[in-house]
Amino acid sequence: MTDAWNKLVKRMEELTDLYGIASLVEWDQAVLMPPKGGASRARASATLGGIMHGRLTDPAIGELLGELETDDSLDDVQTRSVELFRREYDRETKVPADLVRELTETTNIAYQVWTEARPASDFAVFEPHLKKVVELKKQQADAIGYEGERYDALLDLYEPGMTSVEVEAMFEELVDGLRPIVDAVLDARNPEPEFLSRSYEVDKQQRFSQWLTRHIGFDGDAGRLDTSPHPFTIMVGQGDIRQTTRYSESDLPSSIYATLHETGHALYDQGFPEQWQDLPVGGYASLGMHESQSRMWENQVGRSRDFSAFMLPELKKLFETELGSVTPDEFFEGVNYPERSMIRVEADELTYNLHIVMRFELELALFRDELDVADLPEVWNDKMEQHLGIRPEDDAEGVLQDMHWAGGMQGYFPTYSLGTIYSAALFDKAKNDLGGFDDEFRKGETSQLLEWLRTNIHSKGHMLDAKDLATKVLGEQPTAQPLLDYLKGKYSDIYSITL
Ligand code: CO
Repeated sequence: MTDAWNKLVKRMEELTDLYGIASLVEWDQAVLMPPKGGASRARASATLGGIMHGRLTDPAIGELLGELETDDSLDDVQTRSVELFRREYDRETKVPADLVRELTETTNIAYQVWTEARPASDFAVFEPHLKKVVELKKQQADAIGYEGERYDALLDLYEPGMTSVEVEAMFEELVDGLRPIVDAVLDARNPEPEFLSRSYEVDKQQRFSQWLTRHIGFDGDAGRLDTSPHPFTIMVGQGDIRQTTRYSESDLPSSIYATLHETGHALYDQGFPEQWQDLPVGGYASLGMHESQSRMWENQVGRSRDFSAFMLPELKKLFETELGSVTPDEFFEGVNYPERSMIRVEADELTYNLHIVMRFELELALFRDELDVADLPEVWNDKMEQHLGIRPEDDAEGVLQDMHWAGGMQGYFPTYSLGTIYSAALFDKAKNDLGGFDDEFRKGETSQLLEWLRTNIHSKGHMLDAKDLATKVLGEQPTAQPLLDYLKGKYSDIYSITL
């Protein structure tokens, strides 16, 4: 073991600790912090962020990396760790401090303005701020650098190694296949099952979620499940994974599927190798790969005919009056009920990806200088009509609905659909490797799937970028076809139609 490596490990341990503290602070802000704590917390978070940035960009780290890059005694894990640390170090040091500060300030203000502009449906007041954010994101992309095109630099922050052109091709295949399926399914669907509009006591939903997450493998001694308005999962440290879900009395599936989704994220985090806990290889391969885990437990498992049939009697123990007369068929149909909706976060499994693809197309056009921020609302509405067949009445249910652009998260949206594409492809592979899950899922037995994911995905950490990891596991490049086949299979089953 070289001296430089040991020194670098010390730095990595320190950074892991700082990230863990920052995560805990973020979790606390969303789950426990009293409303009046906002101002002091914002300053504390900024102070902590500054310290982390300073530690990460310390020139001493650049020197250690340089030394280790010419050291041929390193093993695979060390070599990959140096490579990943170099990426992060370069990215952080290439962007001038002034630009970093301006981006933080601008997105903070843009976010504030957005929280007021959205309910008022007032794009005009938000427009100059978004314009500035986009301008600064262009500067950031240029500072980081890219091989293909500008948007690649932003995409790379969330989906390392993936290019705009690759995503574009995959999404084109997805949309071309998806639109006819959506049209046929929405034509054939029955009225909404009645149990969806009943009221369900939140206390009982909480008990169900706490049971469900543990039932499918979440280690309650190595994490928690709490409540927040926007569900999320965050890693405080090895053995401490925090997930949140949300409960609505008028929407039973919402909490069940938010919990399954976040548990998917949490199981990935709980599956990283312990011996890599302070190394860059010991984390997730990409946000798309992270999302593939959440989508798989939410959809391929949770919304399957067999697993939903397993959950129903368990739910009936808590909601005897509300669900007493509901059959497994009705329940399966209800938790998969599709509709054309304006709001992405309320979209069902069938139409969700159309919401994502149009956001990606808009981002790409902005960063290719083919679209002005001023024209976004109109083009947004056109795209909604083109992809989903509906047109927003106002900008609140149109271009103003997401916080991502105000927050400077351009490049993030595609990871949602990449995750969905990966989830279907990986699930197919697992099913083939293990000879199917139907009987197991009907009994609520999911440990074989988890074991397969631990072996093939979780234990690999970030040794490979997501696309390469998926390609290695699948034996071929991932495409949208398995997702399309899966959706066809599910909806032809529910509505007895040919797709
Ligand atoms: Co997610």
